[in-house]
Amino acid sequence: MLRSSEKTVGELVVENPATARVFEKYGIDYCCGGKHSLDDACRERGVAPAALLDELSQASPKPQPDKRDWQGAALRDLIEHIVSRHHAYLKSELPRLAELFAKVVRAHGEREPVLAEVSEIFGIMKEELDAHLMKEEMILFPTIVKLEAGNASGAPCSIEHPIARMEYEHESAGRALAQMRHLTRDYYIPEEACNTYRALFAAMIELEADLHEHIHLENNILFPRAAALQAR
Ligand SMILES: [Fe+2]
Ligand SMILES: [Fe+2]
Repeated sequence: MLRSSEKTVGELVVENPATARVFEKYGIDYCCGGKHSLDDACRERGVAPAALLDELSQASPKPQPDKRDWQGAALRDLIEHIVSRHHAYLKSELPRLAELFAKVVRAHGEREPVLAEVSEIFGIMKEELDAHLMKEEMILFPTIVKLEAGNASGAPCSIEHPIARMEYEHESAGRALAQMRHLTRDYYIPEEACNTYRALFAAMIELEADLHEHIHLENNILFPRAAALQAR
């Protein structure tokens, strides 16, 4: 049997989704960086593997009615979940946050120039995500559904290429999230901040967690299972 620390971070979260919270706490990326072993991730973040393993083993799944074991579910259902929950969330949240950023930069940008920088990174990430969601919904996801149903006609010869493209775009979003967290000093809210500022940073923390979970479902469960289907 593999020692836990030899497993990849992504594998550990697939086995027990509750461990995602522990990785979030230590700033360990389990979606885009999900292919790293736990040892490597610890080294990168300067975390003691033994302490982390201890916390991971104690992470027990909280009762969350919408958390399913997607590893064994039909891919069609997983895709339906990703689109109805995570894509729908981004489509309503990204434009709302763009407006909040504009307001906060107008009100506080002069005193805190870093806000404009964060807002610009957010704007680029939003554009990329808008296109990304459309590509998944229009091209990759319907192809996977067809493959699963045993109907390969109309599917590109290989879904490897579109999957690699999506993973590349996930990395770009992951980098933007990490950059924004770094620039805002972990979304630190100064005492004199107005309510819009507070609402924006609280929503950004939520967006980050949701996007991590979303990318994890695609990178570590959906894409490998779809690739295995095609290989058969
Ligand atoms: Fe997606
Ligand atoms: Fe995606």
